[in-house]
Amino acid sequence: MASEWDVRTRLVQTDADSEEGAPLNTPLVMSTTFRAHPEGVGFSAVDMGEESPFFYARWSTPTVRTLERRLADLEGGEDALCFASGMAAITGLLLHLLKPGDHLVLSDVCYAGAAEFARGMLRRYGVEVSPVDTSDLAQVRAALRPNTRLVYIETPCNPILKLTDVQAVASLAHEAGARLVVDATLATPIGLQPLALGADFVIHSLTKYIGGHGDVLGGVVVGRRTELAALRQDSLIHLGAVLSPFPAWLILRSLPTLPQRMAAHEASARAVASFLQNHPRVRHVIYPGLDSHPQAELARRQLRNTSGMIAFQTEDGPAMARRLAERMKVVKYAVSLGKPHSLVFYLPTEDLQRTSFQLPPDLLERYRAWAGDGIFRLSIGLEAPDDLIRDLDQALGP
Ligand SMILES: Cc1ncc(COP(=O)(O)O)c(C=O)c1O
Repeated sequence: MASEWDVRTRLVQTDADSEEGAPLNTPLVMSTTFRAHPEGVGFSAVDMGEESPFFYARWSTPTVRTLERRLADLEGGEDALCFASGMAAITGLLLHLLKPGDHLVLSDVCYAGAAEFARGMLRRYGVEVSPVDTSDLAQVRAALRPNTRLVYIETPCNPILKLTDVQAVASLAHEAGARLVVDATLATPIGLQPLALGADFVIHSLTKYIGGHGDVLGGVVVGRRTELAALRQDSLIHLGAVLSPFPAWLILRSLPTLPQRMAAHEASARAVASFLQNHPRVRHVIYPGLDSHPQAELARRQLRNTSGMIAFQTEDGPAMARRLAERMKVVKYAVSLGKPHSLVFYLPTEDLQRTSFQLPPDLLERYRAWAGDGIFRLSIGLEAPDDLIRDLDQALGP
C-alpha cells in the first residue's frame, strides 16, 4: 500500500484484498515445500533471488514474506527479514556483518542476551568489542577506530531506559566508515523510526510489543534490500533460525492494533510513573515521558510514543521484590515486556557485571547513578491504569 496513508490505515489493509473473493485477512500457509520447476530455483542458497518462487520453508514462505513486507513498510525500510526470536535476529545480523579483526562498539547497557553474546561468542570469534555509554556522544567518538565496522545501540535501553541520539550516532558511525544497528524493541516503530534518522539496520524482538499478546517469539531486521538478501543467505538459510508461518500469522494478526495498543501502554505508563514519582516508598523513577527523565529533551525530540516501560528504585530492593511478588494482585512478578499483562522484575546492579560486560569502573559508576544497587523494571500492560495504581499502592505499602 502506498505510504501516503496513515500508519493506522496501512496496518489494517492487506496486500490480498484487491480482487473479488480475496480474503481480507492474510491466509496462513503451512507448507515446508513448494512445487518447483526443473529450471527454476537451484539447490544452493546463492541461487535464491528476489523474484524466486517459494521453494523450501527455510528460504521463505508466503505468510512470513507478507509479515516481512508489512514490517518493512511500518519501519520505512526497503525490506525486512524475520527470525525465530529477537536473539536470532541480533546474532544473525552480527555474525553476518562482523569478521575476525573487526571492532564493534556496543551500548554499555543493552538486553543481557545481546551483551552476553557480544562478550562471549563474538570475542571468541576474534571480534573486538567495546562497551560504550552511547548516550554520551564524546564517548562514542572516542571509541571509534579504523577497524570499527559496526555501532550497535539499543534505545530506550533495557532495563534503565537511557536514550541514545540515533541521528547523532549515525553521523559519527558513518564518518568513521561504520554502520549503525538500532534495537528499537522498547520504542516500537510507532515511537521511533531509526532508518529515517540515518540507521542502517533496525532490529525488533517481535516477542514484545509488536507480537503484543505474550504468546509468540519472533524477531526482525529491517534495512536495505540488497543487504537483506545477503543476510537471508547467511543467517536464515545457513544458520536456520527462521520464523515459522504460524507465529508469523499471529504477529500479522497483532499488527492492526499496534498503534492503539501503544497509545494505551503510553497513557497508562505516564499515569503510573507520575503516581510512583510521588510515592514515599519510591526513591527514583525513570520514564522517558516524564520531564524528570535525565534526557527529557531528547525523548521529546526523538520519541513519538514513550512506550510502556518504567524503571524505579526503592529502599532495600530485594526485600521490596519479595513484598511485591507476594502482595500484587494485578501486576505479575515476571520477566519480559510488551504484553497485555503488567509485569515487574527486580534487577540487582551486581547482576549487570554477570550478564553484561565487565564494565570499566567509570561505566559501572554511570550505571549506578541511574540504577543504584538495583532497579525494578515495570512493563505496563493493557489493564485499567487506576487498577494498576491501586494494586501497586497496596503492594508497596505506606
Ligand atoms: C531490547 C531487547 N532486544 C532483544 C531481545 C531478545 O528478544 P527475544 O526474547 O525475542 O529473543 C529482548 C528480550 O527481552 C529485548 O528486551
